[in-house]
Amino acid sequence: NYRIGMASNYLRHGESIANFSSGAGKISRINAVTLGESPASEENDLVLPSDEFCRQALIPNPQKYLEMYKRSVEDPAGFWSDIASEFYWKQKWGQPVFSENFDVRNGPIDIQWFKGGVTNICYNCVDRNVESGNADKIAIYWEGNEPGFQDSLTYSQLLQRVCQLANYLKDVGVKKGDAVIIYLPMLMELPIAMLACARIGAVHSVVFAGFSADSLAQRIMDCKPKVVITCNAVKRGSKTIQLKDIVDTALAESSKNSISIDLCLTYENQCAMKRGDTKWQDGRDVWWQDVVPKYPTSCMVEWVDAEDPLFLLYTSGSTGKPKGVLHTTGGYMVYTATTFKYAFDYKPSDVYWCTADCGWITGHSYVTYGPMLNGATVVVYEGAPNYPHPGRCWDIVDKFNVTIFYTAPTLVRSLMRDGDQYVTRYSRKSLRVLGSVGEPINPSAWRWFFNVVGDSRCPISDTWWQTETGGFMITPLPGAWPQKPGSATFPFFGVQPVIVDDKGIEIDGACSGYLCVKNSWPGAFRTLYGDHERYETTYFKPFPGYYFSGDGCTRDKDGYYWLTGRVDDVINVSGHRIGTAEVESALVSHPQCAEAAVVGFEHEVKGQGIYAFVTLVEGVPYSEELRKSLILTVREQIGAFAAPDKIHWAPGLPKTRSGKIMRRILRKIAARQLDELGDTSTLAEPNVVDQLIALADC
Ligand code: WT7
Repeated sequence: NYRIGMASNYLRHGESIANFSSGAGKISRINAVTLGESPASEENDLVLPSDEFCRQALIPNPQKYLEMYKRSVEDPAGFWSDIASEFYWKQKWGQPVFSENFDVRNGPIDIQWFKGGVTNICYNCVDRNVESGNADKIAIYWEGNEPGFQDSLTYSQLLQRVCQLANYLKDVGVKKGDAVIIYLPMLMELPIAMLACARIGAVHSVVFAGFSADSLAQRIMDCKPKVVITCNAVKRGSKTIQLKDIVDTALAESSKNSISIDLCLTYENQCAMKRGDTKWQDGRDVWWQDVVPKYPTSCMVEWVDAEDPLFLLYTSGSTGKPKGVLHTTGGYMVYTATTFKYAFDYKPSDVYWCTADCGWITGHSYVTYGPMLNGATVVVYEGAPNYPHPGRCWDIVDKFNVTIFYTAPTLVRSLMRDGDQYVTRYSRKSLRVLGSVGEPINPSAWRWFFNVVGDSRCPISDTWWQTETGGFMITPLPGAWPQKPGSATFPFFGVQPVIVDDKGIEIDGACSGYLCVKNSWPGAFRTLYGDHERYETTYFKPFPGYYFSGDGCTRDKDGYYWLTGRVDDVINVSGHRIGTAEVESALVSHPQCAEAAVVGFEHEVKGQGIYAFVTLVEGVPYSEELRKSLILTVREQIGAFAAPDKIHWAPGLPKTRSGKIMRRILRKIAARQLDELGDTSTLAEPNVVDQLIALADC
């Protein structure tokens, strides 16, 4: 089993760990003894992998990692070509294996991997497994919201389902390069729809089924899909959500803006709602079950170039307009497969469950593509993780003998609050690797996850990455090195993280600053759909020569990376990224709201909560009703997950003389750190701060 010990103890034993403090990209191993005594603090806790785990691990020690890492940064073309060769390519890529311009000062940013290579990711996820002896292996175990509802598909059954839908889509005129919007909950039809699009070279854009009609409409108008795929309704916990109604509203909205959608393919989710109760527009709406099963169960693959687009996924930025992150085929395929394999120490006998929804990048890379490229058995769960009781997750783990369980810190914290008894009542003995994603995991949640859920036996892969990165960037490799609770540890193969200061100067050694990356990696996004300029401005101009992540980061004296959260106007609520500007623009659309400023504040379960300062239109009194109606406006315009936790009435907002809102002060007020407001002398009207403080708990 694992030992939890002090870093200083571990280091004193003279063992060495990977250390990057002498400069990114360069690898040096330091003898830990030279580090001297470390003060006793949580940060110095090291969690050592057991010999038993290491013996079976893909990367059993730091030496093996260092050897592979060294090659990955010194010879990226060779390193990634070797891995890419394990997949099926109709035609091999040309030379060079990759090309990049990563520096805006040298012209447009341009990243290409495996250019000239011809492949298909659906073929590699499905057909390749069927042909290599895994035809009867379970691809998907599906578990419904209501206990007792379940289903499964083998790889060969999955292939048939994917082909039927692919044939249907082709038949209705969807061609290579066309966009398809998928607005579905976690039914098996969601990964099926993604794979079917990929099979025919269509570009999917999955919209999380928690987004409102307005948000869906905005995405429809941006990418102008040929088809929208949805279902009539879904049950989540004890609630029934009528998704088709939301789609109807979104389609009406987009046709008002002259984007009309001719086809809405609707899956009848009988567990949630009968056909007859669904509102219907003849001519446009078609039941999935009426058409798709009639199509042949085999379908020719559309072979695409490695750099052809695979999908668009919208994510929040610091302005009101969501960004369409574009990923292409070849590099993304190789990268998601490889990160999945090593970060979870994947073995063919594993049963893998990721609780994320396919509406987010985690569900793209680590429910659908990464696992299936490895021929894994994946659990897809439709419902809420605490329904009908807080033990549901462990019930599902025991039921399918889940070995790898990947989730978000917010769920860990909420289950931790419910009490150990809901966990210990289940065996969980199948578990061997745990994973965390979406936000920094606080050490106490890490420890609970490790000790209680994993019985002090399972390493935790705290994977840092982003919608933009396609796959893991900084992550533990289980068994490869000691872990520190709360640290994402070291970079994945091929990734060269750097920490820069305000001026964009790289800092060495133990330090804090902005997290950047100094070279491309196969899974990197290639552009923002329709807005390459915004792509460059947001990610490549802040610190020329680097990709800027938007996150703050600390590197400790042992070289471990600690992510400290967003440094831009993006907040992270339960692992969901929300732009403060989006919430503000929803609030100010309310007829009684004159101005709004939104900041994040620390929230016990969600990580960050949404705190909105609101100035009302002259003469409008503040009321409880108005508070509710402001929150409702945000729910309607973005989605329930973006609803503000706190509305703070603000007769005025703290602004500089040039009119810029001083968010720094608002963050302190939101955190009730009233004695840390800092310098307020540059405010146009310093007394607004006192006013705000006086109204803090109204
Ligand atoms: C932002 C990206 C990538 C999948 C889920 C979210 C934060 C993500 C971690 C982690 C600390 C993390 C960052 C990042 N984040 N994972 N393990 N430790 N922070 O994807 O919506 O693109 O959000 O989530 O702030 O920038 P996303």
